[in-house]
Amino acid sequence: MNGDAACLPIDSIFTPRTDLMSRRTFLKNTAAAAAGAAMLSSLSSSVFAAGDDTVKVGLVGVGGRGTGAAGQALSTDGRVKLVAVGDAFADVIDYGLNQVANSVKGKPNEFKVEDVQKYSGFDAYKQVIDSDIDMVILATPPGFRPIHFGYAVDKGRHVFMEKPVATDPSGVRSVLENAKRAKLKDLKVGVGLQRRHESSYIELMKQVHDGAIGDVLASRVYWNGGGVWEPKKTRDQVKTEMEYQMWNWYYYNWLCGDHITEQHIHNLDVGNWIKNAYPVSANGMGGRQVRTDKRYGEIYDHHAVEFTYADGSKMFSQCRHIPGCWSAVEEHAHGTKGTIHLGGGNARGCYIQMPNGDKITSKAAYENPYQVEHDDLFQAIRTNAKDYNEAESGAMSTMTSILGRLCTYSGKVLTMEQALNSEISIMPKSFAFDAETPVKPNENGEYPIAVPGQSVVV
Ligand SMILES: NC(=O)c1ccc[n+]([C@@H]2O[C@H](COP(=O)([O-])OP(=O)(O)OC[C@H]3O[C@@H](n4cnc5c(N)ncnc54)[C@H](O)[C@@H]3O)[C@@H](O)[C@H]2O)c1
Repeated sequence: MNGDAACLPIDSIFTPRTDLMSRRTFLKNTAAAAAGAAMLSSLSSSVFAAGDDTVKVGLVGVGGRGTGAAGQALSTDGRVKLVAVGDAFADVIDYGLNQVANSVKGKPNEFKVEDVQKYSGFDAYKQVIDSDIDMVILATPPGFRPIHFGYAVDKGRHVFMEKPVATDPSGVRSVLENAKRAKLKDLKVGVGLQRRHESSYIELMKQVHDGAIGDVLASRVYWNGGGVWEPKKTRDQVKTEMEYQMWNWYYYNWLCGDHITEQHIHNLDVGNWIKNAYPVSANGMGGRQVRTDKRYGEIYDHHAVEFTYADGSKMFSQCRHIPGCWSAVEEHAHGTKGTIHLGGGNARGCYIQMPNGDKITSKAAYENPYQVEHDDLFQAIRTNAKDYNEAESGAMSTMTSILGRLCTYSGKVLTMEQALNSEISIMPKSFAFDAETPVKPNENGEYPIAVPGQSVVV
């Protein structure tokens, strides 16, 4: 364990975004935009070949989000080229590339599917990252992220990686280590927690940090909904258990981390952002009440966690995947002077409310945060912005979600330090379609499910 990871100074964990946003807004909104673009290319970092300001991109994980992110990367200002892609499964690649081509049709950085190098298998990430690229998008299921991120940093690539960035504490520790190495190498790293790039969140969060609602005593964060996609393959459609779990990755913890990590991380990250801190301990409860069929692997369908920060304040968190119940994807915080309400990635739901009824709403125009996070990252790459690195905060919000899962699975109060130091890895020992999976079904195809009070998690 990297003992100092738990003690990283708060300032280094939470890189403020307001400076980047204001530079970006300046470039977009003033008559200096054209001059700014020229300045950007002249300031291009040393990764670019002399005389060519094209940012060459690789993509690992050619699925829904990976292809979306590639389209957004190609839609940033300046020349961008998608050079190489890789996926564990060869047969998803052409479909994914056609999705990207459709999303950029008519835009300056259009590309031809047949120009892209394609790789498949568990080692495809190495071939993509070893290609002639400046930046790589990592968008596989999150269990692989620490390995892929580490390799990208080894090879000196800028990175956009989707959230979450790991599924267990050893993965988080690896990302924290590589985040430091990325900084030393001056690599820019974006993490797909797009609320941090959403104008209304940024504007109102600044006011909270400037004291608009006083000291924050508690927050409430939710990802309650009906659930996600159904398993994609049945047993008779695959040859091995590894292949089965890979296709149905959401339902296996080593790949997904359970939905508290995979999805609810967005809201937990906002709670941490509000506090500019991360929890020091937690307790919680959860279970599997409705989504109980064996095809749903090993994850729970609901979690409720009470997180505690060092100053004693709380973050109350709920996430549920059960149809027919109250749905909410949002964040709220209660301070000594007022409250803030943030509406689940939707600019219209964001405001600060004072006890006398006064309401402060965001003045910022809505811009798609999935696009803005790429605009910001590419601007940082092109201008060689100092310390543009979201890996640490992404890792600590990932760890917050893992801490929550460890609490609901064990039924115990756990500290962040205990959890982050845990030597229990949930990852496979090797990667191949005939390799052993870390969790195996019994003769009836059922997986072991965590039992609070019995399961050992740290
Ligand atoms: N920021 C957001 O709002 C947001 C939204 C959706 C998804 N995501 C994140 O994006 C990631 C991918 O989700 P998705 O919805 O695109 O899933 P997906 O299943 O559509 O795509 C994942 C792809 O990765 C491939 N893959 C799996 N293991 C691989 C490996 N070892 N090497 C190479 N390829 C591999 C799969 O075959 C698949 O094509 C997840 O971490 C998810 O949380 C983020």
